[in-house]
Amino acid sequence: MTAKQNQLEITKPDDWHLHIRDSEIMKAVLPATYRWAARAIIMPNLVPPILTGADARSYASKIKGGIESGVEFEPLLTLYLTQDTQADDVVASYQQGIIKAVKLYPAGATTNSHNGVTDIKKLYPVLAEMSDAAIPLLIHGEVTDPEIDIFDREAVFIEQILQPLRRELPNLRIVMEHITTKQAASYVLNESQNLGATITPHHLILNRNVMLSGAIRPHYYCLPILKRETHRLALIDAATKGDKRFFLGTDSAPHLDGAKIDVCGCAGVFNATFAVEILAQLFDNLGALNNLEGFVSLHGADFYELPYNKEKLTLFKSDTTLEMPKTLQTEDGNITLFDPRMPVYWQILK
Ligand code: DOR
Ligand code: ZN
Repeated sequence: MTAKQNQLEITKPDDWHLHIRDSEIMKAVLPATYRWAARAIIMPNLVPPILTGADARSYASKIKGGIESGVEFEPLLTLYLTQDTQADDVVASYQQGIIKAVKLYPAGATTNSHNGVTDIKKLYPVLAEMSDAAIPLLIHGEVTDPEIDIFDREAVFIEQILQPLRRELPNLRIVMEHITTKQAASYVLNESQNLGATITPHHLILNRNVMLSGAIRPHYYCLPILKRETHRLALIDAATKGDKRFFLGTDSAPHLDGAKIDVCGCAGVFNATFAVEILAQLFDNLGALNNLEGFVSLHGADFYELPYNKEKLTLFKSDTTLEMPKTLQTEDGNITLFDPRMPVYWQILK
């Protein structure tokens, strides 16, 4: 690879953290992902959530029904952890290949998390069985204590919840989802085993000024919330240096515009459509194109102990910028696409 490279062939990527919802929105957003990704870890925070193996099985078949024929795309399902989750069901679902992981939302941390976990210690027996069966636990790592400032919730979660959990169950395979702080990046870097982290395109590209300075820009409001620049730089370091513990999870989280632009607007950035082009541009700008494939296509598969995709994806650097539509129309209304606020020249070769 050369510094002035303008074409790049990589193993087809995967998205290790994706919300596709259901019904009409699901049908509208799925192609945005399968245009560039072969697999995606599908989040379970639907209304109602995906609580059991039976729920996951039926959600998987709905998703498959929403995929155009001839397209090879594998949804990797997850279960939503609650205080009532049954270890037997989790282990059986994993062993039968229905799910790939279990998602922990602290109750109240984010969109549709009210059924989430209120007392993690009571779930240690379930988590111990997951550890024995090598089932990954995917963590939304924020405390929900209203006393804790929203910008500190991830760092406090690491101290109060994650460290004790990892001391108790060191063999439990954990992904810290959508990390946003230098504390999270360095925690992962200092731990040698059973810990990975996903990073989103928006947390790599933007800091909180873009959301709040001069005007409030609700399409950048997500959880964990965008942080200050020093944290973004720590994430850039983590993602672009080739470290296998960090991999792409877009956290693409579509909400209809009416739900975003409201007195009580929803958290979530819909970034699936051009995630790979935008990341290629970012890595190129940083002189890190050599490490793009690891981040988007290899490290996640290694963590999940899955084979690399056989198909390839070719990207080329155009002389003109990529034209990104502002919205995706669905039967239910419009969804605004993520605007990275930078010119993107990289495109997918058809
Ligand atoms: O911004 C977010 N949106 N963060 C989450 O954790 C959930 C997601 C959603 O489901 O909308
Ligand atoms: Zn998410």
